[in-house]
Amino acid sequence: MRSQSWRHVAVAAFALAVAGTNAQTGSLTDLGTLLSGQKNLTTFYGLIQKYPQILLQLPSTQGVTILAPNNDAFNKIPYTELNKAFSDNDQDVITNVLEYHLLEGSRTAAELNPGDSVFIPTLLTNEAYSNVSGGQRVQNVKQSGDVVVFVSGLGNRCTLTQADLKFTGGVVQVIDSLLIPPSNLTGTLIPFNLTSFEGALYQSKKLENFSTAANSTIFIPNNNAFQNLGPAIANMTVEALGSVLDYHLLPGQVAYSTDLTNGTKFSTQQGGNVTILHSGNNVYVNSAAIIQADLLCANGVIHVIDNVLNPQGPGAQPNPAIAQQGAVFASASSYSTLPFTTAIPCTSSCPVTSSSVTSGSGSVTGGAGTKTTSGAGSKSSSVKTSSSKAMAAAMARETGFHAAGLMVALGGAVMMI
Ligand SMILES: *[C@@H]1O[C@H](CO)[C@@H](O)[C@H](O)[C@H]1NC(C)=O
Ligand SMILES: *[C@@H]1O[C@H](CO)[C@@H](O)[C@H](O)[C@H]1NC(C)=O
Ligand SMILES: *[C@@H]1O[C@H](CO)[C@@H](O)[C@H](O)[C@H]1NC(C)=O
Ligand SMILES: *[C@@H]1O[C@H](CO)[C@@H](O)[C@H](O)[C@H]1NC(C)=O
Ligand SMILES: *[C@@H]1O[C@H](CO)[C@@H](O)[C@H](O)[C@H]1NC(C)=O
Ligand SMILES: *[C@@H]1O[C@H](CO)[C@@H](O)[C@H](O)[C@H]1NC(C)=O
Ligand SMILES: *[C@@H]1O[C@H](CO)[C@@H](O)[C@H](O)[C@H]1NC(C)=O
Ligand SMILES: *[C@@H]1O[C@H](CO)[C@@H](O)[C@H](O)[C@H]1NC(C)=O
Ligand SMILES: *[C@@H]1O[C@H](CO)[C@@H](O)[C@H](O)[C@H]1NC(C)=O
Repeated sequence: MRSQSWRHVAVAAFALAVAGTNAQTGSLTDLGTLLSGQKNLTTFYGLIQKYPQILLQLPSTQGVTILAPNNDAFNKIPYTELNKAFSDNDQDVITNVLEYHLLEGSRTAAELNPGDSVFIPTLLTNEAYSNVSGGQRVQNVKQSGDVVVFVSGLGNRCTLTQADLKFTGGVVQVIDSLLIPPSNLTGTLIPFNLTSFEGALYQSKKLENFSTAANSTIFIPNNNAFQNLGPAIANMTVEALGSVLDYHLLPGQVAYSTDLTNGTKFSTQQGGNVTILHSGNNVYVNSAAIIQADLLCANGVIHVIDNVLNPQGPGAQPNPAIAQQGAVFASASSYSTLPFTTAIPCTSSCPVTSSSVTSGSGSVTGGAGTKTTSGAGSKSSSVKTSSSKAMAAAMARETGFHAAGLMVALGGAVMMI
């Protein structure tokens, strides 16, 4: 249904964009006039008026693209990671969220090549969400059926609903959900169940090092990958484990999927190189398949892989004919439980009862694993959702378009664009 309405809108919008090109000098409207004329953008317009300082940061040269969430998008906030910030009216976080919706350069939907992701720099530079040079990125891709999608932190996707509303300073693109600023490393590992890796970082005392490494790419093996190694990794010394983990970090190189071209070698924090190989539709790093690419995180990008990489075997090559590559560590044998998860300290959301791993371990059979860990997987995500109607109402009060006086008072800042 959404893609149908997009197709509808797109045809009209593209027609408009073409018609608008010879009107670029003079007759384009300013942002304030544009936003005030859009009845689906009243909440966003109200927010922009409440935080006019956002617009003062806009680069004047190549223009800007404003991803404007429609009114429906704001109604979804209670179900997202942004709920707390908006219900607490946390001005700092809301400012950062708005900055993340401002993209460098004036970008029209028609510029996208179908299927090719682009990673667009935004005005979000707060280190807590963006320890990368040039501003945190948002992924933009045109999928089949001309559905244009933006992907933000924690894999959140939103869809373009109205394209290419031009104004004097650039272009507004209307989206159906808010973008979520990327979380730091632990905030990203937990919701994606990458808990063995998280535990291994604690075990090897490298969590701080990995979390604060600016401009990084991290290849993160999923829990199965650690489980499949069992004692081959669980029994390593802290130093050996640290070296293995270091082989998964590319410091000072943010390599999005588009940078992982066939045959490229990347140098790791461990010192050795990893090599990218493309085969069919799969992309491998050494012999590990990338099973989820481009999870944006505060200090760069994460690619989830299905095998732990071994710095002692940098020449490991996949067998593309098989789905799950063999482990590349000697004496690997499956554990029934997740290595290292007991190393994760119990913090704010400690499990009351240790319910242990229920799913995930069931299918793993055999192996020398008699090691038992409890509590694995029961550490709950810090991502909170709430369906409370009261919360929604409070949020609507905060963000609602309610102050005509404010609009007039702050109109000047908006009109500057
Ligand atoms: C505006 O909002 C209405 C109601 O949510 C929706 O039906 C309509 O498609 C929206 N229009 C655009 C252009 O997004
Ligand atoms: C890494 O990111 C920081 C911003 O967080 C930037 O100041 C620095 O120049 C970047 N370093 C490299 C090598 O790109
Ligand atoms: C990651 O973010 C969470 C909350 O946003 C914070 O509590 C935690 O200390 C951060 N971790 C690091 C290593 O900075
Ligand atoms: C994490 O694991 C839980 C329980 O196995 C599962 O319900 C959830 O979908 C997983 N999340 C992701 C992002 O894989
Ligand atoms: C950002 O990166 C720098 C350089 O690696 C580091 O010193 C700093 O602690 C990082 N900031 C955060 C918030 O992680
Ligand atoms: C992480 O540790 C390595 C040494 O293993 C060091 O070279 C690097 O500077 C550290 N990075 C940070 C951000 O502390
Ligand atoms: C691994 O360590 C556990 C104790 O943590 C021990 O019981 C087991 O025998 C060790 N396995 C190997 C293969 O060394
Ligand atoms: C890593 O690859 C580069 C070429 O990309 C090469 O010059 C370098 O010697 C390699 N390093 C190691 C440790 O193999
Ligand atoms: C990637 O490069 C290798 C040689 O290094 C080649 O055998 C392979 O066919 C290439 N893959 C693709 C998809 O082109």
